[in-house]
Amino acid sequence: MKGYEVKDLSLAPHGRQRIDWADREMPVLRLVRERFADEKPLAGLRIAACAHVTTETANLVRTLQAGGAETVLIASNPLSTQDDVAAALVAEWGVSVYAIKGESTETYRNHVHIALDHRPQIIIDDGSDVVATLVKERRAQIGEVIGTTEETTTGIIRLKAMERTGVLTFPAIAVNNAQTKHLFDNRYGTGQSTLDGIIRATNILLAGRTVVIAGYGWCGKGVAMRARGMGANVIITEVNPIKAVEAVMDGFRVMPMIEAASCGDVFITVTGNRHVIDREHFARMKDGAVVCNSGHFDVEINLRALRELAESDPITVRPFVEEYRLRANGRRIIVLGEGRLINLAAAEGHPASVMDMSFANQALAVEYLVKHKGELSPGVHTLPAEVDTEIASLKLRSLGIEIDRLTPEQIEYLSSWEAGTA
Ligand code: ADE
Repeated sequence: MKGYEVKDLSLAPHGRQRIDWADREMPVLRLVRERFADEKPLAGLRIAACAHVTTETANLVRTLQAGGAETVLIASNPLSTQDDVAAALVAEWGVSVYAIKGESTETYRNHVHIALDHRPQIIIDDGSDVVATLVKERRAQIGEVIGTTEETTTGIIRLKAMERTGVLTFPAIAVNNAQTKHLFDNRYGTGQSTLDGIIRATNILLAGRTVVIAGYGWCGKGVAMRARGMGANVIITEVNPIKAVEAVMDGFRVMPMIEAASCGDVFITVTGNRHVIDREHFARMKDGAVVCNSGHFDVEINLRALRELAESDPITVRPFVEEYRLRANGRRIIVLGEGRLINLAAAEGHPASVMDMSFANQALAVEYLVKHKGELSPGVHTLPAEVDTEIASLKLRSLGIEIDRLTPEQIEYLSSWEAGTA
């Protein structure tokens, strides 16, 4: 068996059962896997994948394996690993996995180095920690890298910053920019799984509560839509005037966080930025306010400030639920999942049906990088639009839904500037 570090290999049968269950909802990825098994487009390729170790990710790794790749998988977040899945990948599929739920930051960083020790030719990243470590600390092996794919908005922001400063010397495919990724995964996936995480952790009723959502990108829109659907009064905070107008016209109240702080019962950050909930906000919150994050990194809530405001260390009142009591006014602030992605810390992340399209994009992005090895310029690229359309078409077919086709007359009309009114 290859190298691995997982919690408990005896969890493998349970993990396998859940991976198979998720696979039932991933027909598009399955089609890619079947083609990869025939064509072996990734034969002999070394891949390092840094992703949330979930049942859906397991099906992506199986797809890469079917294509002929040797993959090492590490967790992209210390709290998101499903230990039974990690065990099943090692025991049933012979994959090198380094991931344990609750691992320390030091272990997490060590796993990033182990992934790079694998001398990857392709890096699948989620948040860009592997690429950032390669560029900062392992420059000698940059030449071996054909390219990287990036799953999330946060990672793409980092890659763009690397591109601007000239350190990104290989192509990066921004998987998040595919329409069949962000329109579904970020919106419907984050929308549902974030509320799932909050409810599993706390069992609170959302109906009638005031839910403050920081950020109205695709993730924020999804969370807002679902919170409203469950009867919550939703407030949006934003820094971008266009997104703020959009939130207003979608029927939400919009205000600065300093005002929202005293109104909210539940706070959810999905901005990708740091200290969106800060010292002055905690000081204004109601007794029992619940605070959590569904953005990629655990930087959105300033927990250090909260620790300084609190009279003592927090008390764990339920799994993933910590209560701080403020020295100044005795109010209790409840933090979920240590400020890490609540949908993966306390629940199972996005459902397989949306990850199906996200991970079909990932698998096809890897194939695209290999096929176009040496042809793509260094920097951030998007997959061709035809790949997006193909993934959407396959998803529709798997759902048994047919759509109209343009008639020849309509194609001609769309290509002519001369035709106008009837
Ligand atoms: N990101 C959000 N949900 C996920 C899931 N179920 N698997 C992998 N990555 C995810």
